[in-house]
Amino acid sequence: MTSAPSAAQTGEGGPPAGSFPDHVAIIMDGNGRWAKSRNLPRAVGHERGVEALRRTVEAAQDVGLKNLTVYSFSTENWRRPVSEVNALFGLLKAYVKRDLDRLAREGVRVRILGTRKGLPDDIRELVDRAEARTEANSKFNLCIAFNYGGREEIVRAVQKAAKSLSDGSLNPDTLDEESFEQFLDTSEVPDPDIVIRTSGEYRLSNFLIWQAAYAELVFMDVLWPDFGKEHLIEAIETFQKRERRFGGLASGAA
Ligand code: IPE
Ligand code: IPE
Ligand code: MG
Repeated sequence: MTSAPSAAQTGEGGPPAGSFPDHVAIIMDGNGRWAKSRNLPRAVGHERGVEALRRTVEAAQDVGLKNLTVYSFSTENWRRPVSEVNALFGLLKAYVKRDLDRLAREGVRVRILGTRKGLPDDIRELVDRAEARTEANSKFNLCIAFNYGGREEIVRAVQKAAKSLSDGSLNPDTLDEESFEQFLDTSEVPDPDIVIRTSGEYRLSNFLIWQAAYAELVFMDVLWPDFGKEHLIEAIETFQKRERRFGGLASGAA
């Protein structure tokens, strides 16, 4: 969903500096380095990463955020050793199994972004169950990008759009950005206002490449297993000091 307000809505640029974000998205990076620096196996870093995820979901609810998206396995992460891929799948399973009841009770709607293709059957069933179980919830949206790649998502969206064009439910002449977005995995979620990446890397690694077109990027040195509420607040405060212009002019510049 396009969340950037039009220039007509805002006068010149976007919402005034200081406004609270609707949606924060996080590239949870640095588990391996966290483990390495302690001479521990990478899998331990991933385990501690799940604890950081749990803390962050709670912190996001506490600070009054409505939408949180986390990048937990990319379509490129298949390039890692099978043992690591299996460990990451096992952790997703454990997270959903352990937290789903509580999340459902707390009014959290869980969505899994990404392709189901290539996922083992048990994981596919689990993610379908998590989505179905929380479908009626609307207090807080938690999107987990798992087996997710921004380019893959766009190609899949184009395939869906092509089907709608050929069955006549979509008119090629009226297809525009807004109507295209219904085919993305995030169709019911606003665009992220902030994309945080931990671990001191400065890239998107194929994360939300359509949706983050106007996101404020916040790069933090903290390794993901050490991330907590204070880092989330720091990122939101950084965002609040930025001036978003969405291609318009700074307020008072005209
Ligand atoms: C992030 O930590 C988790 C995933 C990518 C699944 P990494 O495993 O990438 O940790 P580093 O970047 O090697 O430290
Ligand atoms: C991005 O991190 C993917 C996730 C956090 C799930 P990576 O560690 O895989 O990214 P690169 O390889 O450093 O770009
Ligand atoms: Mg990494």
